[in-house]
Parts: sequence; C-alpha cells; structure tokens
Amino acid sequence: MTTEGTSANEALRARVAALRRDATKELASAGGTDQLEGWRVKYLGRRQGTLTALMKELGTLAPAERRALGAEANPLRLELEAAFDARKQAMETRAQAGAAATKPLDVTLPGRAPTLGKLHPTTLVLREITSAFASLGFQVMEGPEVEWDSYNFEALNIPQDHPARDMWDTIWIDYTDPDKSGGRPMLLRTHTSPMQIRIMERTRPPIRAIVPGRVYRYEAMDATHESSFFQVEGLAVDEQLTFAHLKGCLFEFAKRLFGPQRQVRFRCDYFPFVEPGVDLSIDCFACAQDAAKRPGCRVCKQTGWIEIMGAGMVHPQVLRRVNIDPERYAGFAFGLGVERIAMLKYGIEDIRLFYANDLRFLRQF
Ligand code: DAH
Repeated sequence: MTTEGTSANEALRARVAALRRDATKELASAGGTDQLEGWRVKYLGRRQGTLTALMKELGTLAPAERRALGAEANPLRLELEAAFDARKQAMETRAQAGAAATKPLDVTLPGRAPTLGKLHPTTLVLREITSAFASLGFQVMEGPEVEWDSYNFEALNIPQDHPARDMWDTIWIDYTDPDKSGGRPMLLRTHTSPMQIRIMERTRPPIRAIVPGRVYRYEAMDATHESSFFQVEGLAVDEQLTFAHLKGCLFEFAKRLFGPQRQVRFRCDYFPFVEPGVDLSIDCFACAQDAAKRPGCRVCKQTGWIEIMGAGMVHPQVLRRVNIDPERYAGFAFGLGVERIAMLKYGIEDIRLFYANDLRFLRQF
C-alpha cells in the first residue's frame, strides 16, 4: 500500500512537472488570440482541461498524499492563470499599438464645431440705430425700467387724471414712498421718455442723447402688440434749435437705416410733452420706387408710407420744470419702437416671435 501509494505519488508529481513545462512552453508560443483561447481550454478548461483533470484525480488519493500533491498542483493553477492573463494583456497592447501604427492619428480631421450663439434681431437693429445716432453726435444713455409716476407722466406734462394717460396702458408696481412722486406708486416705464427728464435734471444744454431700453405695457398681445418691447428715445437741447434740425437729423437717420433714396413725411400728432408733435413716416422701401408693386405691398399696407416714430419740439412747460429757460433754449425729441423697425427691415410679420425663444426664428439673423 505504502510502496504503491508512493509510486503513484511519484507518477503524479512527474505529471505536475511535465504539465508545468508543457503549458509554459505552449503559452509562450501561442501566436494569436485564438491560440491563446485554445491553450486556456486545453489546460485550464473546466470540463476537459488537463490541470482540471489532474485536480480531480487528487480527490481519489489518500489524505496525506492528497495534501502533498495539492500543495504542488494548486499553486500551478494560480501560476498558469496569471501567466495566461499576462500573455493576453501583452497581446492586446500589441494589437492596439499595431492598429495605431497602420492608421495614424489624422490631425487634419476637423473637430466638432461648437454651436455659436448669434445676436438677437432686436440687438442687431438696436446697434444699427445707436451707431447711426452716435455718428450724428448723440451719446448713449440708459435709465431705470421701474420708474416713478412723476418721471413717466407728471414731468412730461401728463398730470394725474389727465386723459392723455390713457395713451399708455400702465403696469403699476405695488410700491410707494411718501417722499417720492407725491406718494404715488411706482410703475414699469411705459416709454423711454422719462429719461428726457432725468437727463435734463442732471445735465445742462447742449444735450444730445439717445436712450435705448425696455418698456412695458399692459397690452392684449397680438401680432403688433407685446407687453414688453424696446424703444429708443432721442433728445437734443440747445440754443436756437428748430424743427429744421429735427427734420435734418431724422431724415439722415432714416436714410442710414433704410437706404439713401428715402423720403420722409411729417404729420401732426399729439404727445403731451412736445409742441408741435408729429409722427414721422418714410416712403415705403418696398414699393415707393416702383408703382407697379404698390397694389399688393404688405410692408406699407398699400399706402406708400411707413410710420416709424413719434417726435416733436420739447414742450416749453417740460423745459421749465427742469429749470431750463424756454426763452433761451429749445429742444427736439423723438421716440421709436425697435422691434417695429426690425419687423420692417427683416419682413417679420408677428412681434410675438421676438421673445418666443424659437430657435428656428432666431437662427435666421
Ligand atoms: N413716448 C412716446 C410713446 O411711447 C413716443 C414719443 C413721441 C417720444 C414723441 C418722443 C416724442 O420723444 O417726442 O408713444
């Protein structure tokens, strides 16, 4: 029993040694992933693997021999598994390096273009307007959107309870200050005209300023009315300014924005803070040059003229209120709607598109 056991033991030990030798040699010569996998199945495979079979045989040995041989065979399994992993890893690394070598990095391949933002049509037109007036000597100023009643109305010759207040549908703010504006509540400015007062309070003539900014109205919104939009206010105050200066200035502006052939037309209009007050139209840039286009013209609604702003000579009462002597100084003022100009320039038919945040609309400019 002992002798037999010992010789069986020897035989198994020799098989372990042979297995180690063969497996190691074969692994070293395995040339590709298929051969590598074949090797793994042959030696380590769960069903028919040589090492697996050897381990199963161990189970039939007497306990003492089993222990002795197990001590040799178990580390062999770990050893072969580690060798397999290392070989596999090396093969993958080499494969990657090979692929990179045959297909080198193409540094000329264009990168992915980042999506760039664009300027909003209101901004584009606002910049055109401000640069036209800037080149005529006007400086650009801004003012508060939440305004006191006294600036928005009172100082502009629109007293409380005066029917002229109905010209603006006002959004009121639930805030009062007993020391300001006669204790009347604040509001969202309905026009940029209150800045006329703020500018004249702070500066003495000569004054030439424009004021771009957002204004607010309590409107039933439709294709031509928004509750928030942009205006540009203009104000010039100096000795001996006349209506001719107003006309020359706005005529030049109209030509810069809408083309050198433009004609302008003034018609009487009423704004409480100017006297005389006018609205200014330009001849239709779509059909004025070509009478045949008139009958279907949507730009001017077949009238041949397009109203673009309100204007006038600053009312003497407004000057007096800010301590500017109307006997010595005169002023002219104007106010225009920026989106309306943009609609004319770009052929936009609905003002609500401006602030609906629809990229299909915004990408066009
Ligand atoms: N503030 C007026 C409005 O919102 C526009 C306006 C008209 C402004 C005549 C002026 C002006 O400066 O002189 O309707």
